[in-house]
Amino acid sequence: SKRIALLTSGGDAPGMNAAIRGVVLACEKHDVQVYGYLQGYNGLIDDNYCLLTSDDVAQIVHLGGTILKSARCPQMCDDDGLKQAATNLMKSKIDALIVIGGDGSFNGLLALKRFWPGQMLGLPGTIDNDLDNTDYTIGFSTAINTALDAIDKIRDTAQAFDRVFAIELMGRHSGHLTFNTGIASGAEHIMSFENTNVSDTDKTLSELAQEINVIKQKRNRSYVIVVAENLWPGGVQTLATQLKQSHNIDCTVCVLGHIQRGGNPDAKDRVMATRMGVAAVQAVLLGETDKMVGEVNQEMVLVPLKTAIQQTKAVNSHLVEMQSTILKG
Ligand code: F6P
Repeated sequence: SKRIALLTSGGDAPGMNAAIRGVVLACEKHDVQVYGYLQGYNGLIDDNYCLLTSDDVAQIVHLGGTILKSARCPQMCDDDGLKQAATNLMKSKIDALIVIGGDGSFNGLLALKRFWPGQMLGLPGTIDNDLDNTDYTIGFSTAINTALDAIDKIRDTAQAFDRVFAIELMGRHSGHLTFNTGIASGAEHIMSFENTNVSDTDKTLSELAQEINVIKQKRNRSYVIVVAENLWPGGVQTLATQLKQSHNIDCTVCVLGHIQRGGNPDAKDRVMATRMGVAAVQAVLLGETDKMVGEVNQEMVLVPLKTAIQQTKAVNSHLVEMQSTILKG
């Protein structure tokens, strides 16, 4: 019978376990053996795997993190590491490799292609939603809800004290998480790559200070700014310090950080991840390779891995426009 290798790589995302379960259950139905490699690509290089059966995945659909563990694996950037991974895959007679991860993980797959001829499929697993040709990635929805829950709580304090808060959100270099969470939380201001000029920080800061002052003069109330990580030079703490020094505005900082990566996946992530896991196995059985399973308009699609990692999926322009014209302040 066929053998599929499965691993999770890069930042963990809620719903990865649901995807693992989908893969394993679909494989069992089709009499395919699943080799679960541990700690991302490290498992391939160290030949560290376990066989997965339906028993192993019976109780995991609701769990955050990943039972296979994850890692960022620098050895996949050099030929020795890639050759070692390929040797181990061949030794175990693996027919196909399914990787759940983000763009770094898919780059690893494409690099491995030079040394291993088997089938390769990717599942989009990242809270950043920064993969092309899929509307959503596994973990994105849950991360929004987790961040939202935290911001709602901060809002209580902000409102009780009429304070200004700057809250930093994850997303690496994309604003999907920041924009969606900002709108859902009713943030007075969203600072993200799509709408913030950081080449002239003085000007951007003055405009922000002016907006805060206008609101505060009308009626003293809380003011929440959500800020994308990696956006503001020096980070969100620098932004707050500059607001104080240049405009005498007190601003409390909160970096939500890895809270956003954890927790039980929501229903949307669980259903999507399960579908994607099953679809990946079906794709393998159809002989597909070098593809990512995506979801577009609620349907499963297969897209070339290369096009999935272009990093061109923009935040919906209606959201950006609505924020600047109607919701601001
Ligand atoms: O890609 C997921 C992510 O959480 C990003 O949002 C963030 O920039 C990065 O990973 C953080 O990586 P690490 O957990 O290695 O610090």
